[in-house]
Amino acid sequence: MAELKLPRHVAMIMDGNGRWAKKRFLPRTAGHKAGVDAFVEMTDACNELGIEYLTVYAFSTENWNRSQEEVSALMELMVKGIAKYEPEMQKRNIKLKILGDLSRFEDKYRDPILDVQQRLSKNTGMVVSICLSYGGRQEIVYAVNKLLKEGRSEITADDIGENLYSAGMPDPDLIIRTSGEYRTSNFLLWQSAYSEYYFADVFWPDFNREELNKALEAYSKRERRYGR
Ligand code: IPE
Ligand code: IPE
Ligand code: MG
Repeated sequence: MAELKLPRHVAMIMDGNGRWAKKRFLPRTAGHKAGVDAFVEMTDACNELGIEYLTVYAFSTENWNRSQEEVSALMELMVKGIAKYEPEMQKRNIKLKILGDLSRFEDKYRDPILDVQQRLSKNTGMVVSICLSYGGRQEIVYAVNKLLKEGRSEITADDIGENLYSAGMPDPDLIIRTSGEYRTSNFLLWQSAYSEYYFADVFWPDFNREELNKALEAYSKRERRYGR
């Protein structure tokens, strides 16, 4: 991969867990479980490649509209997955960030996740951001409200960028969506102004190193012009 022009920041819309499970006559939760494994695998892979920032879309503000059973199962799997992966992240010097409106989470899910974030906060290696209860529109409204509370009556684009959950991070260079859907579903609306998109047909649990390499190769061939 050394000859490739690598993105600094890769973001992933991890979609297709349910369909992956359905194809195997398994419950949707089995797909989410396999999805957590794929997330761990992708984090390891990006880390080994030297990618500086990985941001994944794990649960959207709209995903709260799913059945209570699916939402709880997803929460359980994410909490367990993050806890299980913590030692490895620590070893790899990975810094974990949770982006989203965590106020909607039950304490029993929020607290353990925030504890892991805290314990990994001093790490200086790759920054892994997990978007939970995240919506791009909600994030922009959050930033504007923060500025209003400071008493601002006029703001700039920089002000918004500096008050998003992602403040301090570079914008994503490459955004990958799996499962053959061609939409953003409210992901990083502000930050994706000049991101390159890559759509993979495979469902998220099947997104592996080989698929990632294909995405990186495609990115490497893109010419980014930024309007010039
Ligand atoms: C992605 O898989 C995981 C979440 C959105 C939480 P889906 O659950 O959306 O799976 P599909 O798209 O229904 O196959
Ligand atoms: C986007 O997937 C959100 C995540 C992957 C977490 P969805 O499955 O929720 O998106 P839509 O409903 O297909 O647009
Ligand atoms: Mg989906």
